[in-house]
Amino acid sequence: MKTLHVDIKDVMATVSADDIKHLDAAATEALDKVANGTGAGADFLGWVNLPSETTDALLDDIIATAEALRRDCDTVVAIGIGGSYLGAKAVIEALSDSFASYRPGVAGDPKVLFAGQNIGEDYLYELQEYLKDKRFGIIVISKSGTTTEPAIAFRLLKEQLEHQLGLEEARKRIVAITDAQRGALRRLATEEGYKTFVIADNVGGRFSVLTPVGLLPIAVAGFDIRALIDGAVEMEKLTAAADEANPAFLYAETRNALYNAGKKIEILVNYNPKLHYFGEWWKQLYGESEGKDKKGIFPAAVDNSTDLHSMGQWIQDGERTIFETVISVAEQRHEKLIPTDEANLDGLNYIAGKHVDEVNKMAELGTRIAHVDGGVPNILITLPAIEEKYLGQLIYFFEKACGISGYMLGVNPFNQPGVEDYKRNMFALLEKPGYEKETEAIKARL
Ligand code: PA5
Repeated sequence: MKTLHVDIKDVMATVSADDIKHLDAAATEALDKVANGTGAGADFLGWVNLPSETTDALLDDIIATAEALRRDCDTVVAIGIGGSYLGAKAVIEALSDSFASYRPGVAGDPKVLFAGQNIGEDYLYELQEYLKDKRFGIIVISKSGTTTEPAIAFRLLKEQLEHQLGLEEARKRIVAITDAQRGALRRLATEEGYKTFVIADNVGGRFSVLTPVGLLPIAVAGFDIRALIDGAVEMEKLTAAADEANPAFLYAETRNALYNAGKKIEILVNYNPKLHYFGEWWKQLYGESEGKDKKGIFPAAVDNSTDLHSMGQWIQDGERTIFETVISVAEQRHEKLIPTDEANLDGLNYIAGKHVDEVNKMAELGTRIAHVDGGVPNILITLPAIEEKYLGQLIYFFEKACGISGYMLGVNPFNQPGVEDYKRNMFALLEKPGYEKETEAIKARL
């Protein structure tokens, strides 16, 4: 069985094996809290055994729903934000042909587009213009069922779909994923008779990619959600024990040792453009889980080698408060060799005949050595390939490590009280009924 692998040897100039070992007891206690629900936020641990508890019946239902959308639609818009968006986006981007949207008929049809992840007027206008002559469907995802951004997008697209297809047909092309009982979306879905899937109470948004929240859009995009879950099940088993053979345990311990040594910023680095949105998903997972009580590693991400030409200077030579976690992908999907050129005016013949990825790997290795020499510790995660199974492993690995790491830090990794502050101000400024006092107070400050 091939699995992702974590290597921490390149952190040793900053923290010693003893510094990491010293955290064994705290990491063991944290893992116990995750496994046995004895820590803060224990109501939100439904993701821990979720891969192994995912039933065939649920997967069959998701796949059948996806097939119906694929049959009836050339475009499906997944509406959601934060944890109701980033996981699906990350997996679909990772697995898709990079140019699928320009090549109708290749993998990627029907197109899965996203909305409700911003409040961009131009974005929504342009999306609706694009959808005017499309046979489109909607997957609307909101655990709370009350989030403003997806609610606005859904109101617009629902109206458009009903206008284009008529009420009855439109209802058949809308799937809602939300709480079993609560929230405006559940009420609406019941009234309109939409097909629905449930987000369990005990799974928070940013831990929900392996539920219908992520699985349905991923299946609609044509990818193998059974393999994704299989990979997660493998990682669930591998991350059960409290020892350094458990990659999540090792990663959580190491990043906390680095944090204690003054490394306050973690940069997730990839060398494959397909992983850009994995960085975005990871940033939410760790940022929302750990950034509280005035503590927490700041999660950043770069796409190399692209960003070596923008952020490379800072990483090599800026303030030494950072460490990197590099995702290295062992096998590429396709082959491309660098051709020989007789004139050799670009001087590239010394690498002619090599795979493009061989050059990429040397860029990666050279950069890691330079960064370690420059005082940036490196954790190396090797992923066998960008395939459903390994992405399932990677997702679960990061989730488990996040739970352990958050408890080690001494926070509740499963709440997000800070997210409410902007909402309160926005509602006050928009004069939402019920916010009269806040409206008065905020307007007095302007
Ligand atoms: O992780 C979280 O809980 C958040 O990022 C939510 O996923 C996000 O705010 C969207 O919430 P909802 O699914 O309730 O619309």
